[in-house]
Amino acid sequence: MKIAVVGLGVLGRAIVSRWLQTKVLGKQNLFGISYKKEKNLPIKLTTNYKEKADLYVIAVKPHSLGSVLDKLSPGSNLVSLVTGVPISAYKNFNVARVITNTPSLIGAGVSAVSFSENFKRKKDVFKLLSTLGEVVELSESNSDVLTALTASGPAFFYTMVEALADGAVAMGLRRKDALRLAALTMRGAAEMVLFTGTHPASLKDDVTTPSGCTIEGLHVLEEGNIRATLARALRVTTERARVLGKVARD
Ligand SMILES: NC(=O)c1ccc[n+]([C@@H]2O[C@H](COP(=O)([O-])OP(=O)(O)OC[C@H]3O[C@@H](n4cnc5c(N)ncnc54)[C@H](OP(=O)(O)O)[C@@H]3O)[C@@H](O)[C@H]2O)c1
Repeated sequence: MKIAVVGLGVLGRAIVSRWLQTKVLGKQNLFGISYKKEKNLPIKLTTNYKEKADLYVIAVKPHSLGSVLDKLSPGSNLVSLVTGVPISAYKNFNVARVITNTPSLIGAGVSAVSFSENFKRKKDVFKLLSTLGEVVELSESNSDVLTALTASGPAFFYTMVEALADGAVAMGLRRKDALRLAALTMRGAAEMVLFTGTHPASLKDDVTTPSGCTIEGLHVLEEGNIRATLARALRVTTERARVLGKVARD
């Protein structure tokens, strides 16, 4: 398998190093296509967009996509990580459209993939993406809500970690400890939901003892409308992703 990565910025570099680290690809299977001299990359670089590859992984910003597609050979297989651009915009190419998120940079991401009709190398795409974390195949019609939930989602969870840590600092914990413990607690709670398969409301009930302290804190969250606020954040983010996707299409 020969893979070309087009666009060696934050995401392009991170996936190159994950693929080499996890040994899903060796240096001989991987090259970069870049118009500038990228430093400190352990793979071959070329400016020749026509150099043959089984898959071209596109990791450029949406505004650079047009110039990349103009240079690649029609009929090539693309794995596009570009945000907001629908499969229909990649005329003359076979496309796997991927919505991934920043935890992919450490192998803890979620990637949702949709394929153009007759895409032939699905197995290879799953193999490559699984080094970045979990992979799901979903209909492209879910792209905007996925952009909100999984791609923007980490920002929502970071905000919660920061806010909880702020509270803990106010109550005397050192900032460094507060952040680490808040993040570990969030990870543990997420893993409980994933591994037990129990509804989060039931897991929450397990933590709330009668006349205890947790129920006091939960009441404060409810007064602050936490559920409606989070659900609305998701809806507004989805609507914005829809608008940005339309701009990218036009
Ligand atoms: N960063 C993330 O964690 C993340 C997560 C999910 C999705 N994404 C998506 O992935 C894409 C890339 O994001 P990024 O954060 O990696 O962006 P980035 O850091 O700006 O990297 C893009 C790279 O592509 C290069 N480039 C531009 N035009 C090119 C061309 N014609 N040929 C070859 N290389 C070209 C850019 O060079 P110049 O700087 O010289 O233009 C830059 O090095 C975006 O669409 C983004 O929405 C990113």
